[in-house]
Amino acid sequence: METLLASESDLDFKIPRGFKYNWIVYGGTEIKKKVKVPVIVVNGIRTPAQANFLIEKGKADFVAIGKGLLVDPAWANQAEHNCQSYLA
Ligand SMILES: Cc1cc2nc3c(=O)[nH]c(=O)nc-3n(C[C@H](O)[C@H](O)[C@H](O)COP(=O)(O)O)c2cc1C
Repeated sequence: METLLASESDLDFKIPRGFKYNWIVYGGTEIKKKVKVPVIVVNGIRTPAQANFLIEKGKADFVAIGKGLLVDPAWANQAEHNCQSYLA
């Protein structure tokens, strides 16, 4: 399997000014535009609001949360209560 990106310095694209997530999430959102399969974005997504924005705007089909859940075990409950309209 070929590794396409090893670090941010390998990028041959610029992340648009104002894009509020990191280059890994940006890469996922760009892939999402070009494929017909569901895309999960990951890395540095900390809050339910950040996650919800990506889903509601159609920039990803799923978000994966790692460290945010370790920091706050109630993360999913918070997402459920704060983003009820999306989860319902
Ligand atoms: C405790 C822990 C265990 C992880 N285990 C795996 C793993 O087994 N396989 C994998 O591909 N990524 C693993 N990851 C990486 C996460 O899937 C994720 O890509 C990474 O944590 C970045 O997302 P985050 O910023 O929300 O933490 C792990 C991350 C953490 C914090």
